[in-house]
Amino acid sequence: MAQAPVAGSQVPAASSIRFPKGFLLGTSTAAYQVEGAYQADGKGESKWDFLANKVGATQFVIGKKETGNVADNMYDRTQYLKDIALMKEMGVNAYRFSIAWSRIIPQGTGAVNAKGLAHYDQLITDLKAAGIEPVVTLYHFDMPQPLMEKGGWNNPESVQWYAAYAEVIFKHYGQKVKKFITFNEPYIEHFLADYMMNVEQSKAPANVRYAAAMPKAHNMLLANAKATAVYHRLKLPGMVGITLNLSPCMPFDANNPADVRATPLQDELLNTLFLDAIYKGRYPKRALDSLQKYNPAFRPAPADMALLAAQKPDFLGINFYAPAQVKADPTAPMGCTWIGNNTDPAPASGNGPNRPDQLYALLMRLKTEYGNPTTMITENGAAYGDVDEAVVNGKINDTHRCQYLLGHLGALQQALADGAKTIGYMHWSLLDNFEWVFGYSVKFGLIGVDRTTLARTPKQSYYLYQSILKQQPKLP
Ligand code: NOJ
Repeated sequence: MAQAPVAGSQVPAASSIRFPKGFLLGTSTAAYQVEGAYQADGKGESKWDFLANKVGATQFVIGKKETGNVADNMYDRTQYLKDIALMKEMGVNAYRFSIAWSRIIPQGTGAVNAKGLAHYDQLITDLKAAGIEPVVTLYHFDMPQPLMEKGGWNNPESVQWYAAYAEVIFKHYGQKVKKFITFNEPYIEHFLADYMMNVEQSKAPANVRYAAAMPKAHNMLLANAKATAVYHRLKLPGMVGITLNLSPCMPFDANNPADVRATPLQDELLNTLFLDAIYKGRYPKRALDSLQKYNPAFRPAPADMALLAAQKPDFLGINFYAPAQVKADPTAPMGCTWIGNNTDPAPASGNGPNRPDQLYALLMRLKTEYGNPTTMITENGAAYGDVDEAVVNGKINDTHRCQYLLGHLGALQQALADGAKTIGYMHWSLLDNFEWVFGYSVKFGLIGVDRTTLARTPKQSYYLYQSILKQQPKLP
């Protein structure tokens, strides 16, 4: 008898993709990656302004000194109005972007910058005029540099710094923005801080870096809980959530018992550390034990855990790119490593495996193990390197990205049919942008950007998404 296909693994026909009325279908970006104008209108220095300009974050990885100083120039209204026009033409009904903390409170704490607030007021107004709902992230890897100099997320005061910033944002924008996201991918910031996010720290030995991991994660989770409490206290008319990068874990080699044994720990470190803290008010034991080996003094206070347990997000944002393939490695600080993100410059076949069935599996796991929370896919996308990005006769035929997009939309449609409570899908990314330590060499956009002229070229995937968006049921 033929085996039934794995749920979510089949690439559907574009014409068969339908989501419920009111489902949000959009694209995603983040301030530092697209805005440029890094010193405009009273903006303070952020961690990434510092890393890119003063440390040379990209130079260590790709040998080029690239920065987000100009990026896609999207701080400029003339430019972003054109980008909104492209979004409207594509047919999205939502756009996820982030607010740069250092534009709103240039020193991180204290005085609020009216020009920074006004910029995002205008952007929100312009998006709404185009029929596009803003989905706003408060923090996407870009801590104000003056706060980094006070220890960043290692400093317990960071909880209060962030809660005060969040209160400014909620009070100012809370009537016109209906979907807020407190944090983007705290895992990446607290774990990969050594590599992706904080180049100078990568020189520190593992015991120093791993000693900091748990306090940082804990402070970010507390900051999230405090901000969530502020949002609910203000009785605002929308929803607040947090975005996690979640990747189902699987052994790299299912026939290697060491890889099989390593997989549950990696799953705790990557997925359930945050999920359990947020939904169950506790940390999973294996992960906590492994990290406490580097920091035996770390003992979360019962009052902290009670706060985590008490403040549930209204929705969970999910960034899903690929499953994590886990390898046992006795020399690694945690005894294992994982591969499977979609960011490494790719071989022609693509990098992270294209596994939409794992998006389906993830949503089903949340349903069974975490009480089926309301979710939003806040990022999903792929970068396949030159094979997808060549401009030929003015066209970019990104066939791999098209397959990836179709597969994941199909898996999501299947998950909704099977009970997932997902309210939206934001593709990463609207346009090619500054990919952190990889600079501009790794491209995730539905729209290409010429690095010299900043001219935009919609790719094949833009037109594919457009055809899918146009056939969705419209609200009256
Ligand atoms: C996750 C991050 O949120 C985003 O900033 C990054 O560009 C994408 N993944 C792609 O790596």
